[in-house]
Amino acid sequence: MESPREIGAAVSKVFESHRSIRKYVKEPLPEHHLDLIMEAGRRAPTDATLHLWTALRIVDDKLRRRIADEIGQEHVYEAGEFFIFIADLYRLKRLLEYRGEKLGRVDRALLVFAAIDAALAAENMAVMAEALGYGTCFIGGVQNAAELIIRELGLPEKTYPLFGLTIGIPAEEPGVRPRLPRDLLFHENMYRDYSDSDLARAYESMSAYSRRRDWLRILKRYVAEGGYFESRSVEMWRLLKTQGFEV
Ligand SMILES: Cc1cc2nc3c(=O)[nH]c(=O)nc-3n(C[C@H](O)[C@H](O)[C@H](O)COP(=O)(O)O)c2cc1C
Repeated sequence: MESPREIGAAVSKVFESHRSIRKYVKEPLPEHHLDLIMEAGRRAPTDATLHLWTALRIVDDKLRRRIADEIGQEHVYEAGEFFIFIADLYRLKRLLEYRGEKLGRVDRALLVFAAIDAALAAENMAVMAEALGYGTCFIGGVQNAAELIIRELGLPEKTYPLFGLTIGIPAEEPGVRPRLPRDLLFHENMYRDYSDSDLARAYESMSAYSRRRDWLRILKRYVAEGGYFESRSVEMWRLLKTQGFEV
């Protein structure tokens, strides 16, 4: 067994070399690697022991093709493995009913905690997969196919697809992508507002992310007025309501 220092160095290396992979060799993972990856997901912390998530492993090629087309991302089809993470209150409903109890209101609070639970499980899996030498990519684009996923994958009431995770043998070697400076992400004790120079540093540190070397383009596309998330939100709440979430 290695020392904690050696283990820490190995784990740190996994994080340092993380980069999302969007081109894969289309080959399934060997069972013993899948075992390690799924076990890493199962061991993730879970709020109040509730296990508010389920992951669907999409192994049917035709189904994968349809989902990838609907999402509009080819790596969803090409990756050796693709998991869809679901906010899952249905299993708890069944567990309660089995013992004669009734599930309470499923509202925004439970949705938030389900998303946290699912993300922790998925990140555990991604880290394990990358430690084994695979590439991974989270797929928020699952939201664009939420209706199809609910229908075709037979999602019951009180469940909702949150995001996907591709895992596979990389067929590209992108560089490591930038992050914000640490002092903008970690504040001490009190929330600290940002000076102009902090904001300039933020754009500077993220400039390499965009081909035109301006991170503002990304922020505008997603979160400025009229951006992607404004329009996505309407559809998301509509579908959540049809799935029995009181949001
Ligand atoms: C919740 C979430 C959703 C994401 N959705 C997508 C997606 O739909 N398609 C994609 O190619 N990458 C997606 N990504 C990957 C991010 O674009 C990527 O993590 C980010 O650009 C930073 O790059 P890096 O992971 O290579 O460091 C997603 C990441 C997260 C955490």
